[in-house]
Amino acid sequence: MEQIFDLAIIGGGPGGYVAAERAGAEGLNVVLFERKSLGGVCLNEGCIPTKTLLYSAKVYNYAKDGDHYGVYTENPTFKYDEIVARKNKVVKKLVAGVKAAMKANKVTVVDQQAVIEGRGKDGITIKAGEESYTAKNLLICAGSEAAVPPFPGLKEAGDVIVTNREILALEEQPKELVVIGGGVIGMEFAAFYSTLGTKVTVVEMLPKILGPLDDEISAMLQKQYEKKGIQFCLKCKVTGIEGNTVVYEDPEGNTQRVSGDKILVSVGRRANLQGYGLENLGVEFALNPAGRPYGIKVDEHMRTNIPGVYAAGDVTGFSMLAHTASREGEVAVNNILGKKDHMRYNAIPGVVYTNPEVAGTGITEEEAKKQGIDYKVVKLPMAYSGRFVAENERGEGICKIIVGAKYHEVLGVHMMGNPCSEIINAACIAIEQEMTLEQLKEVVFPHPTVSEIIKETAFTIR
Ligand code: NAI
Repeated sequence: MEQIFDLAIIGGGPGGYVAAERAGAEGLNVVLFERKSLGGVCLNEGCIPTKTLLYSAKVYNYAKDGDHYGVYTENPTFKYDEIVARKNKVVKKLVAGVKAAMKANKVTVVDQQAVIEGRGKDGITIKAGEESYTAKNLLICAGSEAAVPPFPGLKEAGDVIVTNREILALEEQPKELVVIGGGVIGMEFAAFYSTLGTKVTVVEMLPKILGPLDDEISAMLQKQYEKKGIQFCLKCKVTGIEGNTVVYEDPEGNTQRVSGDKILVSVGRRANLQGYGLENLGVEFALNPAGRPYGIKVDEHMRTNIPGVYAAGDVTGFSMLAHTASREGEVAVNNILGKKDHMRYNAIPGVVYTNPEVAGTGITEEEAKKQGIDYKVVKLPMAYSGRFVAENERGEGICKIIVGAKYHEVLGVHMMGNPCSEIINAACIAIEQEMTLEQLKEVVFPHPTVSEIIKETAFTIR
């Protein structure tokens, strides 16, 4: 007799595999479809490989700057192929870990492209390879892919053009790299390659890098990387590609050109909405102001318009971050299990793993202004943290807290300085728990840690 699953999940990225793990642990009978590799973009061609590369760059930096700490190394150097090989080893290890987690939670993994066929009498039917599967519930975590605009000359440029996927597979370090789009992907690759000595130019349409980031922090980070040799062309619109040259219009309207042996296109990502039968169920899409679909439409319980069908992660086109995807997947599973849970987006952390790192959560000062919120800002240089000074000889950094003007409730926290990626979660908890600065002041932070900067900053409120 054909097996009927409680839950079918399409996509094995951090949305899908975390949901499968949680659902399996709760006793649901789960089938997970992943056509490429468990872990999805995050583990195979995103978060994990880039952080592994960036860590090698950081170690190289430490070796070069050891003298600032009284440590001398002679002619520190690196082997690009070994850096890449280590990255591949880390990815392989973690993919195996996800596989083991699926097994431990009795999840059936199908390594085929899944296509939704429709709803039968026992549930939703899905075809994968030669087999058909039926499930009472469906969670769509089909992810996203790099958006590559049809710049004139792009196709002719061939493999000079790379996205986050191809750049990770490069066997040789580019001597010159042009990055189109100074967002998160663009800046992390710019940081990695410039640290290894590649000449990097970032061409960005907006007047700042890392658009949604706090303005002050964005400018500080840009200055640090200018010092390290990255050239930034801001307010510059790419108009075409000529072989290995990017053609763009500068702020004065003049045509300019910049060449590289590789050109990274990192201008955003697009939800995967086609090729797996969404139309067979009539799943509704969310539309942008121009009326174009940008993701699967979901409510705060991650439910689509079709009963029993949920979506989580990049496929919703909303907050394209691995940790958002995982939480959205958990919300969907909890709702399937009949537990009360809903998605909240006001304390999602965002981190850019440059060196120094930047991290933020909640609203920025710019957003507070835009939303007409009566707010106050308190801020301190990171140098107010003893631990930060001990570990960052030439480091510059800042901690900024945005609070409501009347009750001092924490609305946003934004930081630059290592290791703020590991600290920002304290701010997420403060926002999630609707804490005020006065309550935050009462929390005991370990000393000496860089995290104390949050508490120190809280004490500067007037
Ligand atoms: P993004 O949206 O972060 O940045 C794209 C940038 O390209 C924007 O600054 C935009 O103004 C610029 N741009 C767009 N068209 C352009 C043009 N024609 N010429 C010049 N500039 C142009 O997108 P990105 O960096 O591709 O990242 C995609 C997604 O992946 C994001 O949602 C991001 O959150 C996620 N991601 C997150 C990471 C993290 O959390 N550390 C790391 C990498 C990616």
